[in-house]
Amino acid sequence: MINTKENIRDRILQLKEKKNAAILAHNYQIPEVQDIADIVGDSLELARTAKSIECDVIVFCGVDFMAETACILNPEKTVLLPAEEACCPMAQMITADEVRMLRRRFPDAAVVSYVNTTAEVKAESDICCTSSNAVKVVESLDEEQVIFLPDKNLANYVARFSSKEILPWQGFCFVHDRITHDDAIKARRDYPDAKLLVHPECRPEVIDLADHVFSTSGMIKHVCSAPDKEFIIGTEIGILHQMEKKCPDKICHPLSPQAICTNMKRTNLAKVCESLELLRPRITVPEDVANRARKAIERMLAV
Ligand code: 13P
Ligand code: SF4
Repeated sequence: MINTKENIRDRILQLKEKKNAAILAHNYQIPEVQDIADIVGDSLELARTAKSIECDVIVFCGVDFMAETACILNPEKTVLLPAEEACCPMAQMITADEVRMLRRRFPDAAVVSYVNTTAEVKAESDICCTSSNAVKVVESLDEEQVIFLPDKNLANYVARFSSKEILPWQGFCFVHDRITHDDAIKARRDYPDAKLLVHPECRPEVIDLADHVFSTSGMIKHVCSAPDKEFIIGTEIGILHQMEKKCPDKICHPLSPQAICTNMKRTNLAKVCESLELLRPRITVPEDVANRARKAIERMLAV
């Protein structure tokens, strides 16, 4: 049989049923992967779903730290990452040793880790956050000094809304950090009637020009519910698919057509199918690391 997209899709649906699996996909995945998923969402929605969903197998269409988080929250489930090599370079910008060094240097500070970190880094942290709850998480802490890692741009964004002293690590997302002030000025000039929405991983000078700052799902909800008709979207372009599907009457322009996360694009239908067939590549986290990291993730989910 020829492997058309249709019969790969049919095979995935059969395997999903047979293996009692659920497919979770991030908003940056390619359209056909988003379309086969049970849930498409941002990091927080996917972490919450991974915790609550009833199934034996989770197929995580995203990057490694997201699948690790699902695994930490579900030690009894099989968690698969169809594209084994899909990693988030920002998550590699800080190590557990560096977090321990920061704790020695700032013993009174709380450590807040963006979920875009390794399980080892989460295990050294007091609490995690995502782009949609970072301000709320920081404000929930008793400590007045907060080590915020690894994203300097998200740390900067949080500092705008908090009276706490934020000590940022100097990591960044290569996709969002590459969007420049000039890109934002040009987009505003090209689409004078459009509202500019940006992700908090963008540089401060880009955030300064935005009408609103949201997580990926926050942007989709805003586009669908706001009375405005036209938007400039300052994040990875995969998100435009959900906007086209959920609110086809709105006009959305990418702030930068080059904003592509190559790691998020490594997953495709053939890899999802093979992964379900073979139940690999499987993501595992050593038990002692998972137990400590779980505390930081669960604490975030409770905020
Ligand atoms: P969201 O949590 O907003 O989906 O962001 C995840 C991410 O990797 C952004 O680059
Ligand atoms: Fe990591 Fe940036 Fe890709 Fe998100 S978009 S997964 S932060 S590299």
